[in-house]
Amino acid sequence: MKDKKTVLVTGCSSGIGYATSLVLSRNNFMTYGSVRDLSKSGKIQKIIENEGLPLKIIHIDVNDNKSIEVAIQKILFESGRIDILVNNAGYGMFGPIEDITVADIKEQFETNFFGAIRLIKTIVPIMRKQGNGIIVNISSMVGRFAVPLNAAYVSSKFALEGFSESISYELEEFGIKVILVEPGVVRTDFFQNLKIKGTDSKSPYYQLMEKRIGLLKTAMENGTSSNEVANIILHALNSKDPVFRYIIGNDATNCIRMRKSLSDKEFMKWIRDGIFHSKGFTR
Ligand SMILES: NC(=O)c1ccc[n+]([C@@H]2O[C@H](COP(=O)([O-])OP(=O)(O)OC[C@H]3O[C@@H](n4cnc5c(N)ncnc54)[C@H](OP(=O)(O)O)[C@@H]3O)[C@@H](O)[C@H]2O)c1
Repeated sequence: MKDKKTVLVTGCSSGIGYATSLVLSRNNFMTYGSVRDLSKSGKIQKIIENEGLPLKIIHIDVNDNKSIEVAIQKILFESGRIDILVNNAGYGMFGPIEDITVADIKEQFETNFFGAIRLIKTIVPIMRKQGNGIIVNISSMVGRFAVPLNAAYVSSKFALEGFSESISYELEEFGIKVILVEPGVVRTDFFQNLKIKGTDSKSPYYQLMEKRIGLLKTAMENGTSSNEVANIILHALNSKDPVFRYIIGNDATNCIRMRKSLSDKEFMKWIRDGIFHSKGFTR
């Protein structure tokens, strides 16, 4: 175990976390994959047993400090160190401003933003004493630009981006690197796990929401595979000098390029036309 780097990946019951914990453990990382509900770990446990992988499934609810502390103590007791943290746990929320409550938005931030911070704050002192470490935060292409009817989610990812960029300066001084992963749409359980508000047919936003969710559903069916995301994370962790941002998928690459090259007005028209007026995203 000592020759392997120790990594913790959060949110491994499905999607990107599931794929990443498997890919890392198959590539010589001593991997701890956390789930908030251990009863959802049957499938991954079978793969671990069949392949004899160095992957242990542990319990973390990223909203619960105690569960984080207990898990980190267990990892330290068993491995003696934590080299890499992959902050992946999160979910999406869609809904117009009049239908999402402040409580909804706080709940979104509690998991997507403060959840990551809770883990970072627990693990940074350990990495600082080690003199090295890598923190990978799973953001999104919508951490770089906004899309309609998705304000709670988009702002949670914008916040994660700003937070990551700021702490990267101070942590670099102690040998700790911060990496942002910015996928476009990825085929996972994200759509099934979405919290959606404003779909009541009486809502003035009903038709906009119908269009928005319909487009998202189609995009999800054609999204990048979670294995592709996992392999890019593996590549970043194996790089001597990883870059700060990894953009994943043609959609993310294209949209971020447009965000950089267009004025605010042009970009927002492009998004509005593409999403509300079904004109697609070609240019
Ligand atoms: N799919 C996409 O298109 C896409 C694109 C860009 C970024 N992302 C980001 O990628 C990350 C992973 O999402 P995914 O697409 O793989 O979706 P997913 O299949 O729904 O997986 C999300 C994971 O996060 C876990 N989770 C949610 N809340 C949690 C909490 N409070 N504590 C611990 N775990 C929690 C879920 O656990 P449960 O099974 O218990 O709910 C699940 O394991 C998220 O941060 C998401 O924002 C996704």
